Amino acid sequence: MKVVVFFVVFFTSQLFTSHGQDCQSGQDVLNALQQVQKLLSAHETSFLQSLRSLRKKLGLLQNSTVKHSKASSTASDCPPPKPLANGRILGRVFKSGHEVHYLCSPGFQLMGPETRVCLESQSWSGAQPSCKFVDTTVSNDASAAISASPSSSHDPAYVRPSRCIELLGSSHCTCEPGFSISSHSSTLCTDIDECELFRLTHPGRLCLHTCVNTAGSFQCQCPAGYSLGRDSRSCHDIDECARETHNCSSEQVCVNTFGGHRCEQVDCPHFRNAIYIKTSPLRCDRNPCVQGDDACLQAPVSINFHFMSVVSNMSAPTVLFRLSAARVLGDALRFGLLGKRGVQHFSVQRAGRQTGQLVLMNPVQGPATLDVDIEMSEMERKVLLGRYVTKVTVFVSPYSF
Ligand SMILES: *[C@@H]1O[C@H](CO)[C@@H](O)[C@H](O)[C@H]1NC(C)=O
Ligand SMILES: *[C@@H]1O[C@H](CO)[C@@H](O)[C@H](O)[C@H]1NC(C)=O
Ligand SMILES: *[C@@H]1O[C@H](CO)[C@@H](O)[C@H](O)[C@H]1NC(C)=O
Repeated sequence: MKVVVFFVVFFTSQLFTSHGQDCQSGQDVLNALQQVQKLLSAHETSFLQSLRSLRKKLGLLQNSTVKHSKASSTASDCPPPKPLANGRILGRVFKSGHEVHYLCSPGFQLMGPETRVCLESQSWSGAQPSCKFVDTTVSNDASAAISASPSSSHDPAYVRPSRCIELLGSSHCTCEPGFSISSHSSTLCTDIDECELFRLTHPGRLCLHTCVNTAGSFQCQCPAGYSLGRDSRSCHDIDECARETHNCSSEQVCVNTFGGHRCEQVDCPHFRNAIYIKTSPLRCDRNPCVQGDDACLQAPVSINFHFMSVVSNMSAPTVLFRLSAARVLGDALRFGLLGKRGVQHFSVQRAGRQTGQLVLMNPVQGPATLDVDIEMSEMERKVLLGRYVTKVTVFVSPYSF
């Protein structure tokens, strides 16, 4: 009598995409931002307090020196500084005690003082600087690439003049969002490197993968094979198989992986005296055996292929998938690993009378490809009725997302 057994494989692949992560990390960013906000408002309060007391003192001072300052304020102006060829000058107040700053265009190096002060004598301190052309092709290597990186503090885009308000003779300077008052001068604003700031305090919270600092802001970037999420910080795998952007031939099976895809060739194995034919893209069935041919009867009745993708460093133990017989003809089913492949990573456990499950026993760092063969044996009064093999290939991505 012919025995036909159907198999049902339950996939638990949704285990490996982390839906909760977006929310969790979003909450983290929100918390971090709230902390920064608190910090800023604390700074603002203390700043306003000191500004108030300063204003009071200045008022007093002004009352006593009103005549004198009227006479001297116009007298202490310096002439506008000479323009800088291949560079620019920051600073718009040319009064005594104020500074101007010199910046050269990319590819030029500043020769002379970076800063000049308007002196009481109505002239600028130091000598007029100049911008000298630097031949960047000479050192066109990695170090040149680093110094040319956009976050370089010499890039004019990352340094901007501050907006200053004259308040009773003292100036109060502010910056555009994403910039802060330079440590060198209150007339200059320098870009805040959000990536660096968060790298130290909350690593990975600003961006799931790579953070790129920009003038006044930052951008998150994802590795190839991922797209940036709507939250502009998370990375989502691109399913090349579903989008049909893969290169797999019609004989191959496209397997989407986290960050890429694989083209897998499914070939039926060879067993002594048994002949297999492909009955579906992922399954091979044994041809009927000649009666009394024990070698053929011992060979698996069917070979199933199962490909799956997981992220790197997945927590373990984790059930990867369940396997069961839809219809059992014998009185018992046995589940186990076939051969030595994958024994260090996997175990097969019983999950019910007719169900077994493949369990990943330890976290695996990607990129890696793991192979394991599972055998299910159907028994009747301790006599083997048939063996069924599932060949599992697990693709572990290089990233934990
Ligand atoms: C400065 O003088 C004006 C009158 O000239 C007076 O109203 C004001 O209160 C004075 N300010 C201070 C801080 O003493
Ligand atoms: C697909 O094939 C094209 C050209 O044949 C090649 O440029 C490209 O890199 C291939 N893509 C993948 C994912 O293998
Ligand atoms: C793997 O995950 C564990 C816990 O989730 C974590 O402590 C560890 O740093 C991770 N290892 C790598 C290499 O990402």
